[in-house]
This record gives sequence, structure tokens and C-alpha cells, in this order.
Amino acid sequence: MKTVVLIIGANGQLGSVLTESLKQKFGNSNVIASDLRSREGYEGSFEIIDATDINRIEEVVVQYKVTQIYHLAAILSAKGEETPLRTWDINMQTLFNVLEVSRKHNIDRVFFPSSIAVFGEGAPLENTPNNAYLDPATVYGISKAAGENWAQYYFLRYGLDVRSIRYPGVIGYQSLPGGGTTDYAVDIYHKAVLEQDFNCFLKENATLPMIFMEDAIRATIELMDAPKEDIHTRTSYNIAGISFSPAEVVTEIRKLYPDFKVRYEPDFRQEIAARWPNSIDDSAAAKDWGWKPKYDLKLITTTMIQKLKEKYRKGSKNQAALML
Ligand code: SER
Repeated sequence: MKTVVLIIGANGQLGSVLTESLKQKFGNSNVIASDLRSREGYEGSFEIIDATDINRIEEVVVQYKVTQIYHLAAILSAKGEETPLRTWDINMQTLFNVLEVSRKHNIDRVFFPSSIAVFGEGAPLENTPNNAYLDPATVYGISKAAGENWAQYYFLRYGLDVRSIRYPGVIGYQSLPGGGTTDYAVDIYHKAVLEQDFNCFLKENATLPMIFMEDAIRATIELMDAPKEDIHTRTSYNIAGISFSPAEVVTEIRKLYPDFKVRYEPDFRQEIAARWPNSIDDSAAAKDWGWKPKYDLKLITTTMIQKLKEKYRKGSKNQAALML
């Protein structure tokens, strides 16, 4: 059977990079990107989809004979706290729509991203196990914890092959995050390359699990490629990249930019970060589908700085788009 992929949320931090990888894997004509707004200069099939509208998702699935859906649209942890009930509605309704359309049209595989935000004070801070108690304190985390259980429900009840990863904070040079608590770890590299000071909204010792974009994309594709019988976790898999604090990133950056200045001005996002794990036990993902991260903090730092320098050097045209 030919694989035809629909990506919902294709303009986002992960979605935009994943779309390109899936195009390489399945061929441009077999990947349909979608988001609330079109993307200027996008090469390939792009559809406007508001994922709160189930009919619109269904229309595109039928039109292109879609066989796999990656549902990446969501309101993230920090942004979500501005309007908690709206965040819940959007994050859940879009997921229900994807699950229902997938069930009805016998979609072969569905990807649902979860997050370290599902963990709260009830989980061990260090090496947090896959099956730790989940008591998230953000509406985003609550929606992801509920979403994982709905993913498992659709698998158990209808046999729908939904697969999920709990992403750590994702760091990449290709795109910008929006509305998350881990976003500082992308912003800080932009400021370093632009030789500007950085105001950090977390405390200097706020250690969080993070992952480099290349590793995050590879994990997603490896999970989606794994044979069905190897997937034993139907809620969501922990995956680890590395763990670090703002102070540790600053130390790495100063090896290349010795004058880099940082002020710590923790805000409400520090409260969110304080309840999330420091590090993640990803042994279930390692055992079931061979997960292993490649990028450590040193390699992330040198790659981020080199790639962002190239991007900014390419001219003022893209500069505005890159500025945070
Ligand atoms: N990076 C996300 C956030 O900070 C966590 O999944 O909200």
C-alpha cells in the first residue's frame, strides 16, 4: 500500500522540520502539509486545515487518500496558561477529530506527540520512569496526559495504530518554538550569535530534559517505522536526549562567545519547569524500538551556533523572521 502522509500543524517548530524529512522519505507528492495558515514559498501540497473542524480534516483525508496522520497542532505549556479552558478545548478537540477521522477511514498509523509536561510533583525528578504517576500542573500537561490515554483507548477499543513520544524540550536552528517553557534553550543561541545579552526566564539551575531537533525527528520516524508488534507502550514513550540547566548552556556558549552576558529573571515559567523532570528514563523506547540519542550539549552548541551564523549571514531578508 502506498503511504500518503498528512501533517497537521506543519508550520510549527517540529512540524516544519518533520515535513521536510517525511518528503525525503515518502516523496514530495505523498506528503500533505497543513496548518491554520498557508506557508509562503512552501514547495509541495499544502492545505489550510483548522483541526477543530472535523469535516475539513475528513475532506483532505478523502481527497488525498491519506494513510498516515501526524497530529502536531497544540497550544504549548506557557501559552496555554493564558486561557486554560480554551487550551483544553483546542488540544482535546483537535485530537478527538484526528482519532475519529482515523478510525472511520481506517488510517494505517497516527502519530500523537506527548511531552515531559505530563509529569508533575508525583513523579521522581531524576530518571523519571515511563510509568511514573502523572499529576501535571499545566493545562497543556493535563491535555497531553489525557491525550495519551485516549490514544491507548483508540488502540485497545478500535485497533487504531496510534503511536506517541513524550518529547523533551526540542532545540533546533531550522525553526522557532512558540509558547513553551523550554523555548529559552533555542532563544539563547540566537542571542549569542547576534551578540546580544540574554534575559533568561528560568533560574540558572533549572535543569530540564532537552533533545536536538535531528534526534527528535529521527525518534519520530523510527517509532513510526517500527513493526506494530514491537510497540508495547500505547500511551506514550519517554525519550531522552540530554539534560542541562541554563547555566550549563551558558558555559558551553562562552567557550565560543566569552563575553556573552545573561541576566536571570525567572517568571511563571520557572514554576512550570520546577515540576518537570530533571532527567528521563527512556529504557522502554530503547528496548522496544532501539531508541538512542546522538547529540550531547557540546555538539548541540557547536551545531546551533554554526548553523545560525550561516542563517544570519545569508542576509537581512531572513533576519526579521529569525528574530525572537
Ligand atoms: N517544549 C514544550 C513546552 O515547553 C514541552 O513539551 O511547552
